Amino acid sequence: MSYYQIRGGRPLRGTVPVSGAKNSVLPILAATLLNGGKNVLHNCPDLRDVRSAIAILRYLGCRVRREGDTVTVDSSAVERWDVPHELMREMRSSVIFLGPILARCGRARLSLPGGCDIGPRPIDLHLQALQKLGVEIREEGGDIYCRAGDLRGTDVILSFPSVGATENTLLTATACGGSTRIINAAREPEIADLQEFLRKGGSEVAGGGESVIRVSGEMPRRDVEHTILPDRIEAATYLCACAACGGEITLTGAEPEHVGTVLQCLSEAGCTVRTAGRSVMLRAQERLSGLPIVRTMPYPGFPTDAQAPLMAAACTAEGTSVFLETIFENRYRHVPELARMGAKIRVSGRTALVTGGALHGARVRCTDLRGGAALVIAALAAEGESVVEDITHIDRGYERLAEKLTLLGADIRRTDGET
Ligand code: UD1
Repeated sequence: MSYYQIRGGRPLRGTVPVSGAKNSVLPILAATLLNGGKNVLHNCPDLRDVRSAIAILRYLGCRVRREGDTVTVDSSAVERWDVPHELMREMRSSVIFLGPILARCGRARLSLPGGCDIGPRPIDLHLQALQKLGVEIREEGGDIYCRAGDLRGTDVILSFPSVGATENTLLTATACGGSTRIINAAREPEIADLQEFLRKGGSEVAGGGESVIRVSGEMPRRDVEHTILPDRIEAATYLCACAACGGEITLTGAEPEHVGTVLQCLSEAGCTVRTAGRSVMLRAQERLSGLPIVRTMPYPGFPTDAQAPLMAAACTAEGTSVFLETIFENRYRHVPELARMGAKIRVSGRTALVTGGALHGARVRCTDLRGGAALVIAALAAEGESVVEDITHIDRGYERLAEKLTLLGADIRRTDGET
């Protein structure tokens, strides 16, 4: 088992680069299937989820090469239209391959997706939207069989602005004759990035990043070169770490606008924040003050993925903070682990009440990706030594976490193997 040993209590100081966004690179990798050409993607983070997506592309017949942070995908020869269970269970977002496989091959077979255990994560919205576009769907023994009968553009109304369902619908719609409107689409920046990739490939898409997306025309057929946008959740995580530990950090290669709500919370908690171009500077005050209610919302609201990292910072604050998780059920699995480090958190349904105080080192276990990041933040802020176990969850979404934190002066060591 891999783990981090962290000696806490040091302020963070220095500059750290933000990597490309996990939640952008995954749908874009899936979208490379559409154009049957050569795709050159820059700023691709080297993450466990990205490796899983590359494994799926290779299984399907694509030639994929990584050199530094550039991944090249040649999708000219796609030979398979299924994703086996072993590859699907590696990450939930593998369901994003459904639309592109259907669009490219006319049929698809996927087993139900895996990923973090943060409450029920159904894919009913994906399937309803695809049915609306003319996809025939059959579920059998945990597998979903889809056939792209007579794909036709139409209005698809999502009952909730699901990120994944928006992306799957958009990707399938590129193969539909006529025009499609996705209404009540998710507005996350990663969707605008996917749109930009599709447009470079020749698709006619507009409205990505807004709540109505329009897609018309046929499948894209051009080679594409694209740079993945910066990871706003990784950025938020380092900012929360500095807020919890004290000190002053600068993030480079960031997109300040995409972390607007996180910056607002941190400045309300007493941090000084400055943004300029693609950099964000945060100076923490001696002690954070309690946060007013933090309610997770679809973008541009406060991101659910930053809830656990911010909660770790709130555990060190003076006074109380309230969190309301409205996106996922069961997204407080990090709470009992934070409690091992002395955090005082009361959870009732979707609300968590955090009473700030001192944290102490402990042996804790990651329960999911963002919850794992929260434990690292708490361990960095705690007095004494902590061991954070099961960090393969963290590897799904953070590139070189220990290395980057070391750049900021943290005392963190990674060990791979037995504890
Ligand atoms: C994406 C992000 C994830 C982030 C989440 C919310 C990727 C790879 N992952 O996940 O990091 O936490 O957005 O910002 O981009 N739902 C349904 N039925 C569906 C689909 C979703 O009920 O068919 C529900 C989910 O259970 C959840 C909510 O809608 O409660 C939001 O899910 P969604 O926006 O789809 O998140 P993901 O795309 O899975």
